[in-house]
Amino acid sequence: MGISILGTGSYVPDQIMTNDDFTRFVETDDEWIRTRTGISQRRMAGWEPTWYMGAQASLKAVKASGIDPADIGLIISCTATSDFLTPSMASVIQHEVGAVNAAAFDMNAACSGFVYATDVARRFLETDDSLKYVLVVANEALSRFLDFTDRSSCILFGDGAAAVILEKSDKLYSSALCSDGSGAGLLCARSLNVAPEVAVEKSDFEDPFPDVPIHKLQQNGKEVYKFAVAALPKSFELAAAKVGITKDDIDWFVPHQANIRIIETAAKKLGAPMEKFIVTLDHYGNTSSASIPLALCEGIEKGLIKRGQKIALIGFGAGLTYGGIICEY
Ligand code: UT7
Repeated sequence: MGISILGTGSYVPDQIMTNDDFTRFVETDDEWIRTRTGISQRRMAGWEPTWYMGAQASLKAVKASGIDPADIGLIISCTATSDFLTPSMASVIQHEVGAVNAAAFDMNAACSGFVYATDVARRFLETDDSLKYVLVVANEALSRFLDFTDRSSCILFGDGAAAVILEKSDKLYSSALCSDGSGAGLLCARSLNVAPEVAVEKSDFEDPFPDVPIHKLQQNGKEVYKFAVAALPKSFELAAAKVGITKDDIDWFVPHQANIRIIETAAKKLGAPMEKFIVTLDHYGNTSSASIPLALCEGIEKGLIKRGQKIALIGFGAGLTYGGIICEY
């Protein structure tokens, strides 16, 4: 059983942060950022809550689908940057959207979140006949967790949200979800409000990532890069092998938007032309789980992705998670 993407919606905050703006905080320049990452600018949420961005994107997706929000039976919000430990973002968004009959929960699979959440949504649709529509929404405000003294990470990320309304269909569908927890320490932000040294002293457990500060994203860029250039093509190949299709059958690749060099290397490894890859990172940067659906929305809005075409959503992120979905739009 597959899915139909009935409608999509996206939302990004108005505030733009250019590469030049970073020269106020760190020793960097526009040329380094553009040539090493492909990013020129990104959006910043400021004090706009993450749930607000998610709700705006969801309302647009509901409108584009032409459905009654009361017919949404499930909301899955993927986020690594929730406003609250509890309630879930999905519950807050449910109220904003008026999806009064929906179950609601959040998922965190970092930047692979949208691939994971969409696959979970499909499984719900397959096993629950009473479920009509699922809202999957990815919402992220990475800017609130950045270390603006670390030039190698703060320039990479941006904020935004995007949502899809899904229903069951008999269209082509395949997926592969993967994780390699041995790399969990390579991309981290601590939420526990206890200093690592206190945690070690007071408990019998050794802190696995003692150097990770509270509420500041820390990454080993080089190691994540190495993982990413292998994970992105593998995500496609694992999903494609299940349904016996090849890269030539795919009309559009919608990859996680982290670094243009990662996407180019993945394209080369797959033997697929860059013209088939939707790229938005030049203007949005890396918006974590929102990056794939933001790119999907833009591809559809620009008239590039058309009904009946085959698309491959491929992602990777902290965890280290990765995964792919092949489906028909
Ligand atoms: O969703 C997943 C999120 N994460 C990723 O996808 C990250 C994957 N990794 C990357 O994209 C890249 O590794 C980075 C963009 C993070 C770094 O690019 P790189 O080409 O691997 O640079 P590097 O770490 O090898 O650093 C080269 C030089 C260093 O200077 P020295 O030691 O050669 O003097 C860095 O200090 O570039 C320096 N550098 C910068 N210079 C100017 C690092 N960041 C900057 C900067 N501006 N913003």
